[in-house]
Amino acid sequence: METRRLEADPAGIAAAADLLGRGRLAAFPTETVYGLGADARSGAAVAGIYEAKGRPSFNPLIAHVADLAAARREGAFGEAALRLAAAFWPGPLTLVVPMAERGSVCDLARAGLDSVGLRVPAHPVAQALLRAVDAPVAAPSANRSGRISPTAADHVVGDLAGCIDAVLDGGPSEVGLESTIVACRAGRVELLRPGGIARAEIEAVLGHPLDAASAHEAEFRAPGMLASHYAPRAGVRLEVREAAADEHVLDFAEQLSATPGLLRLDLSPGGDLREAAATLFGHLRRLDAAGAVRIAVAPVPRSGLGEAINDRLARAAAPRS
Ligand code: TXA
Ligand code: MG
Repeated sequence: METRRLEADPAGIAAAADLLGRGRLAAFPTETVYGLGADARSGAAVAGIYEAKGRPSFNPLIAHVADLAAARREGAFGEAALRLAAAFWPGPLTLVVPMAERGSVCDLARAGLDSVGLRVPAHPVAQALLRAVDAPVAAPSANRSGRISPTAADHVVGDLAGCIDAVLDGGPSEVGLESTIVACRAGRVELLRPGGIARAEIEAVLGHPLDAASAHEAEFRAPGMLASHYAPRAGVRLEVREAAADEHVLDFAEQLSATPGLLRLDLSPGGDLREAAATLFGHLRRLDAAGAVRIAVAPVPRSGLGEAINDRLARAAAPRS
């Protein structure tokens, strides 16, 4: 299969919408990362996602819709979910809610669960695409399973060329981290995955702390969080105060130095966590591309977006099979 690269102009957006409408796969930009889209109503189309990614089939996928009205056709929104949607949509928040009685997101996209993950992305190209498709679009990050999430069309092509029909090129993703996932079910509001919106921002809107998700529950309900999900090829050492002679360096706020000839990339020389979130996957990718065998990572503060960044780094460092 030849993968077409489409410009994010009206003709390109129409071509991508046409592909999705015919059950094909098209990657598209969102403000978090690039998504690998398929018609969420079609089991066959969604199966194509798992196939292209080599992703374990029990992972439920996020269904993307253009607005809250479309989301409410797919999911049952209680008071907390409505409040979060009003505050953060369109934007990098995914809400897991009970499936609506007449919801159209297929069983495979929900991995058989009776809940559905829904997101209204803010990216204007994603918005235009979703309005043109006029159906929920299932889209995990557009990378091969277990690899780094793509924040540019080139990353998608590098991972999935030949396996998908098209990639819509909308430039670099601004947030650079996946959406925060919050489940609103059975009177509980739980953080399933830290991401582009910090816990404190969500709790401020709710007016109370999030309920704790038990580790077992979280893993069952959000299996995308399995330990080695975000894995560069290199071995990763965290919280490093001084890099070893043979280590490439992923720095934060100019804390470390590297042996001459080895790469040192700084997530944010000025210590800005937003900038660090936006550069994280790209830097991991560049270190991988440089052939790094060992990567030393500087400590990154855990406040705000730092929670999500440290979560991703811990996954990058986790032993893998
Ligand atoms: O920023 C993002 O969220 C990106 C862009 C493309 O929108 N998408 C993304 O999708 O990260 P994905 O498939 O890589 O992550 C989906 C996560 C998984 O951990 C999955 O288990 C969880 O959402 N999820 C989806 N539906 C769920 C459900 N019904 N119950 C529990 N978890 C769910
Ligand atoms: Mg992913």
